Amino acid sequence: MPSHESAIYPAPPEYDIFKKKMQSLSGIDLDAYKYQIHRRIHMLMQRWGMKSYDEYYKTIADNPDKLREFLDYLTINVTEFFRNANRWWELKDRIIPQIYKELGHQKLKMWSAACSTGEEPYSLAILAIESRVATPKPVLAVDIDDGVLAKATAGVYAKRQIASAPKEWIPKYFTDAGADTVKVKPEVKDKVKFKHMDLIKDRFESDFDLILCRNVVIYFGPETKSALYKKFFSALRPGGYLMTGATEQIFEYKTIGFESAGPFLYRRPK
Ligand SMILES: C[S@@+](CC[C@H](N)C(=O)[O-])C[C@H]1O[C@@H](n2cnc3c(N)ncnc32)[C@H](O)[C@@H]1O
Repeated sequence: MPSHESAIYPAPPEYDIFKKKMQSLSGIDLDAYKYQIHRRIHMLMQRWGMKSYDEYYKTIADNPDKLREFLDYLTINVTEFFRNANRWWELKDRIIPQIYKELGHQKLKMWSAACSTGEEPYSLAILAIESRVATPKPVLAVDIDDGVLAKATAGVYAKRQIASAPKEWIPKYFTDAGADTVKVKPEVKDKVKFKHMDLIKDRFESDFDLILCRNVVIYFGPETKSALYKKFFSALRPGGYLMTGATEQIFEYKTIGFESAGPFLYRRPK
């Protein structure tokens, strides 16, 4: 174990106080996250030469930039349009047509749970347009971090974020915004509704046909993860699908009630 880790394990009692104060300040319950979160916080403290949790808390509480940095570092909001492209083509070519066929309706209720800066829900909206899928409501897109939601709502991206999009879709759904940036067109924006939500604490809507929850539970402890997957199960319409990230297998999917519908794809039985 590297020396900086042995210095913080087991967590000293001051860390419990820090966690409580951070929850009142940011709304984030650090106990729901894996122990790596503790290490990440400690690394951040080392970077700024902070000698105690109390000193670090005061710095964050007095300085919005430090709070922003803390949240960014903690919640890691890396994402891109059509991230893991093959999964998207599977949605387009297999899953969406299957929902049509089996459920006998053509209005899909979709949700990007932990949407970060918006690339994932906008990708879903584009897929809906391309598949000629009607959506009863806009794609629901939620995240705990208001900073990423503001960026998502603006809908302006560096061109590298759309590298996985098929070339012919780019002029259809984006306008050039100069300096290597693009802006999502209004017809795509209108199909997405962003909302602040803590997936761990908040209540979910129901009757979804398709939920994407990718690259977020990797930071959650096993109990938090399991409780979250049960909530997703209840939020799905019978026959609806949950897609997880490319490394996020649900080991207890059968116990929860899901059936497997392919790699990292789970279905609530009809
Ligand atoms: C790596 S991004 C995933 C973005 C997108 N789903 C993807 O796979 O490209 C992880 C996101 O999870 C969000 N997040 C972390 N904890 C959360 C929680 N308890 N509730 C809602 N969002 C959360 C973070 O703010 C971050 O934007």
